[in-house]
Amino acid sequence: MAKYIKDVLITRDEIDKMCQRLGAQISKDYEGKEVILICVLKGAYAFMADLARYITVPLRVDFMSVSSYGSGTRTSGVVRITKDLDSDITGKHIIVVEDIVDSGLTLKHLKELLTTRNPASIALCTAFDKPERRRVEVDVDYVGMEIPDEFIVGYGLDFDGKYRNLPDVSILGDDRDQRENGQGGN
Ligand code: IMP
Ligand code: MG
Repeated sequence: MAKYIKDVLITRDEIDKMCQRLGAQISKDYEGKEVILICVLKGAYAFMADLARYITVPLRVDFMSVSSYGSGTRTSGVVRITKDLDSDITGKHIIVVEDIVDSGLTLKHLKELLTTRNPASIALCTAFDKPERRRVEVDVDYVGMEIPDEFIVGYGLDFDGKYRNLPDVSILGDDRDQRENGQGGN
């Protein structure tokens, strides 16, 4: 194991089972409907690709990119769209797909923002959730796994843009201050 990785927290097998379970649930909940999966770039790219293949209702995919306005290292939670959707979501059933919910600010603001475009319904789906870190309440409809308050990388999640390609989810070693130091995220 590389020295910057402390421990494997979630194996690729567990991740696959998690995607299977969420895909089956979504397929059941949206039976008879069409959905648009909205990938929040970049972190959710791996998860959305896997999840989509376990969903059996007709679907489209779209992508958006956001960054949080922050003063210094603190995020204000106001999200700015840096890449908007290509599709019009008015009257559509949309599911926003995130990699991880931490403070909850990103998903809360994203939901508010997308709601103003009048989709038929909006649901939130995340691969991972760190409930201990929550600063604002946000109702996440589909949660893959709850994890402890650790900084994780792999399976799309990065530190300073790196490690997204690791197939398992691992805990990053040493520096506990890393997430406060503008690690890049998203
Ligand atoms: P929130 O607005 O605080 O919920 O921010 C969530 C975003 O922060 C995620 O979409 C990630 O991009 C990033 N993030 C939060 N925790 C981690 C982590 O443990 N590893 C990698 N990125 C993280
Ligand atoms: Mg993200």
